[in-house]
Amino acid sequence: MASSPNFQLTDQVALVTGASYGIGRGLAKALARAGATVAVAARSTDALETLVEEIRAEGGTAQAFALDVRDVNHIRACIQDVHGALGRLDILVNNAGLGANHPALDVTEADWDEMMAVNQKGLFFCCQAAGRIMLAQGYGRIINMSSQASLVGIRDHAVYCASKGGVNQLTRVLALEWSASGVTVNAVAPTFIYTPGTAERLDQPAFRQGVLDRLPIGRVGTIDDVAGAVIYLASPAAALVTGTILPVDGGWTAQ
Ligand SMILES: NC(=O)c1ccc[n+]([C@@H]2O[C@H](COP(=O)([O-])OP(=O)(O)OC[C@H]3O[C@@H](n4cnc5c(N)ncnc54)[C@H](OP(=O)(O)O)[C@@H]3O)[C@@H](O)[C@H]2O)c1
Repeated sequence: MASSPNFQLTDQVALVTGASYGIGRGLAKALARAGATVAVAARSTDALETLVEEIRAEGGTAQAFALDVRDVNHIRACIQDVHGALGRLDILVNNAGLGANHPALDVTEADWDEMMAVNQKGLFFCCQAAGRIMLAQGYGRIINMSSQASLVGIRDHAVYCASKGGVNQLTRVLALEWSASGVTVNAVAPTFIYTPGTAERLDQPAFRQGVLDRLPIGRVGTIDDVAGAVIYLASPAAALVTGTILPVDGGWTAQ
């Protein structure tokens, strides 16, 4: 007889990068509600401490860790600290990321370097540091935050599209190298999600209409839409899923 799929994260330790604001903040809460002990990491430690209090007030377990993903030594030290403090590391959600839009002719070298340092280099070395721990324990779930901009071109987003396309390729290669040792690696690729970071643009009627015209589902995404995909990929139920890029995009890339 078939058993039921297991979506519970009880007794698991999850690290969410870029958890101070926006999607990462919501993902940390969702993982805690699913039963995980959550390490929340970013540069804004005051915001992280507030998040930890909010998770604890709901009966969850969380701890804050300072992290700047542009610094590889800092990544390594932070992930060792998480492992040392919480005893395991089962789930890594590589959410820290920058978004920016400029016409390609206006992109500066500094724009390029900053976005690649966070969205690609930082993400890769978080995978590497967490992967060492997960491979040693024989179990792990890595979920990389990609974007619909990894799958199709989006005008005025040249560097962002390039950075997220690279996230997809890193996801595939790490899945090839690590899945046989119990560590799955996947990415989620959301459409526009309404967050404090995107509210300014999405609250402009012309910008919002331009987005909605491309969205077959007829609405922009919410953090809960992303959380559903992340919880699934983080769960034991997704054991056979690895090397995939899961669009959470309301059909944007279906056309
Ligand atoms: N919102 C969308 O429409 C959308 C759509 C598709 C994909 N995404 C992706 O989803 C992720 C989150 O997006 P969001 O909209 O929630 O962004 P956000 O509100 O701007 O939050 C970004 C998070 O990343 C952290 N971060 C930035 N630089 C960092 C660094 N150097 N080291 C550590 N953490 C850093 C920030 O924390 P600190 O500043 O405190 O360090 C913050 O917590 C990103 O990877 C983004 O590309 C977003």
